Amino acid sequence: MPVTVVREGHIRIVTIDRPEARNAINRETRAGLEAAFTEFASDADAWLAVLTAAGDKAFSAGADLKEMDPAQRADPNYVAPPFGFITRDFHTDKPIIAAINGAALGGGLELALACDLRVAADHAVLGLTEAKWALLPGGGGTQRLVRSIPRAVAMEMLMTGAPITAGRAYEVGLVNAVVPSAELMERTMELAQTIVNNGPLAVRAAKRAVDEGADGSLAEGLQLEQRLSKALFSTHDAAEGARAFAEKRPPAFTAN
Ligand code: COA
Repeated sequence: MPVTVVREGHIRIVTIDRPEARNAINRETRAGLEAAFTEFASDADAWLAVLTAAGDKAFSAGADLKEMDPAQRADPNYVAPPFGFITRDFHTDKPIIAAINGAALGGGLELALACDLRVAADHAVLGLTEAKWALLPGGGGTQRLVRSIPRAVAMEMLMTGAPITAGRAYEVGLVNAVVPSAELMERTMELAQTIVNNGPLAVRAAKRAVDEGADGSLAEGLQLEQRLSKALFSTHDAAEGARAFAEKRPPAFTAN
């Protein structure tokens, strides 16, 4: 299978496993990602996903260029499925972290952009290369990149197609951390565990508030925040959080 899933407590590690093709996304890999993330979204025991890939050469080289048929794509009746499944028409309030183990190019970067946080190995490069192949990033790249980093940098990446280093990606805020390649999973799992230790419903509410609120007006965003905040006060976990603080012990959250 080109996609594997490993459980570690409430964390699911989803790995794209096609290193021989630099983890490019062909039909089978897309189906694997769909199965993995559909299951993740519906599994009450799964609180956070880490998306990574096999080997250290590439996180993903994007769309499988050998499988792509431009004539089919140009057909007015053809509706392209969401690239890599998670880039369009998929939403979960549960957090997803990309552990970028190598080149994230084209759709590879679009997959990483569809995640909430990104940790990059120090040798990784990141780019939207589609213009080099006379294509447009169609997995959300044009929309998410400009919402993630300064507009001029996004334009440069889109128009030149030139990848940037992990260090530059950190400078512009495209990745949360750059770590030595050998420590990528350890450091990503530390970040994942810190999030998983928090109230899961609160983490999901924060993601929803940002995802739904950030592109609207401030007034609408503040109303959304109030609704989400009020709903959390009636949860078992919110009561447990306050009780645990008073009793000077770690909280035991259950996502209820
Ligand atoms: N689709 C299909 N196959 C791909 C691929 C892609 N997007 N990217 C790499 N591969 C395949 C290569 O064809 C090669 O297959 P082969 O061994 O049968 O010849 C294999 O993966 C290894 O690729 P190679 O280029 O030799 O590896 P590398 O480590 O030197 O370079 C990359 C890795 C990712 C930098 C380079 O492959 C690359 O630039 N790929 C294209 C990335 C891109 O622009 N994607 C956007 C698509 S719209």
